[in-house]
Amino acid sequence: NQSGKNMAKSSQKPHAIMIAFPFQGHINPSVNLVMKLASKGCAITFVHTEFIHQMLSKSQNSSSELDLFAEARESGLDIRYTTISDGFPVEFDRFLHSNEYWESMLRDFPARVDEFVGKIIRSDPQSAYFLIADTYYTWPATIARKHNLVDVSFWTEPALVFSIAYHLDLLRENGHFPCKDNIEENLNYIPGVSSINTRDLMPFLKESSITTMEQKVVVKIFDVDEQVKKADFILQNTVQELEFEAISALNQKQPIYPIGPINFSTGFTKPAISQNLWAQTDTKTWLDSKPSSSVLYVSFGSLVQTSKQIIQEIAHGLLLSKVSFLWVVRSDIVNSNDTDVLPLGFADDVKDQGLIVQWCNQNMVLSHPAIVGFMTHCGWNSVLESIWCGVPMICYPLSSDQPTNRKLVVDDWKIGINLCDGELVTREEVVEKIDSTRSGTVSDGLKIEIKKVRTILQKALAVDGSSEKNFDQFLKDLKAK
Ligand code: UDX
Repeated sequence: NQSGKNMAKSSQKPHAIMIAFPFQGHINPSVNLVMKLASKGCAITFVHTEFIHQMLSKSQNSSSELDLFAEARESGLDIRYTTISDGFPVEFDRFLHSNEYWESMLRDFPARVDEFVGKIIRSDPQSAYFLIADTYYTWPATIARKHNLVDVSFWTEPALVFSIAYHLDLLRENGHFPCKDNIEENLNYIPGVSSINTRDLMPFLKESSITTMEQKVVVKIFDVDEQVKKADFILQNTVQELEFEAISALNQKQPIYPIGPINFSTGFTKPAISQNLWAQTDTKTWLDSKPSSSVLYVSFGSLVQTSKQIIQEIAHGLLLSKVSFLWVVRSDIVNSNDTDVLPLGFADDVKDQGLIVQWCNQNMVLSHPAIVGFMTHCGWNSVLESIWCGVPMICYPLSSDQPTNRKLVVDDWKIGINLCDGELVTREEVVEKIDSTRSGTVSDGLKIEIKKVRTILQKALAVDGSSEKNFDQFLKDLKAK
């Protein structure tokens, strides 16, 4: 077996085994990373869970024979696509029973992956395999070591969030992990993070999250098992120039390669690869009918839930503001069984002022000239996509990394504004924030700043840009391992 740590001795091209994390916000950057690796001459075995495969097939209206990378392969890229069972039948509701699902993903999934990786290696023992796994998985270092593979961890969020999670020990020593829910203090002891207020920490670090699966997973990967600290290389979907200090400090500990924004890194503009878990509604015709810079795009990503009251306040605010809007209202956006989340008669009141869809092609929407702003939950993909398209943000973070991402967007880069101060939002605030994003001095300031940050992103992906160079350096270091 020439694979793994003997990569340098192998005459074969590096062959990545990559198992995607089963969430939309992780699938998008993973698929793009695969394309990037393949376009740089790597072979790839890309793996989805059977459940994700079935969702992708359904969203495409295709049979279960969906071959994710067929088109990519036609362009000569060496990509094999396969699936692994997560241990549950596909019809099992993983969202309704998320605790049972994640308990099993922690307890039983690693053994499946172990067996699966062993099988792949045995099927072609001459290949120079390495493992790429999402940092949020709890098993990569263990499995990579067992099979003597180079272990590459892929972090899909900003370096700031990584730095905070990386120093759970410091947070604990200083009494900030778990962090009391209602204190506001500035922390200035995290390497590479000049100062951060406790209110901007990820909610899963808070005392109220102590029993959550998210906290359990983060503690396991960054603290107890230190899976990520054992990785040979860490790829991050961010840009060096944007998070220079955090990345430099992390680089003292482990080799970090900022290679973002990966979703725009391959130059494949057509969705050649299936990524969408839900069918997209066509929004182009409607957007085409609107004047330039007149439409607010509203979406809270693929996962987060909020209350009916908040959705209704936002709905009233949108109506009152008279802005044209395109709003992604997922059927599970509210954390109850209530299906009528919008105010009574809302659709009639809205008429042509707004278009409400369950899922759309977000990048197409954001790059449409009709768009003037993005009301977002600050998921990291959404943030990067909004910057890439030069669209200022109205920020309403709800969970995971989003409050910390908000700090970058609003406080550090000044390319977005807060929707509200507390958790609850009123229709008056919605109107006020929409107005200031559309015109006036706030709007002018946002436009100036987002142009600057957008240029940083574009430069990073240019031939001699930092992300491109970091990617090449990663491949060089990988081959030398
Ligand atoms: C999750 C976390 O919530 C997020 O904070 C983390 O950074 C990644 O994992 P999600 O909440 O789905 O992701 O948000 P986000 O990171 O913004 O990813 C959503 C993706 O879905 C984006 O790439 C976006 O383009 C896409 N999308 C969203 C669509 O294609 N259509 C839609 O209608 C809405």
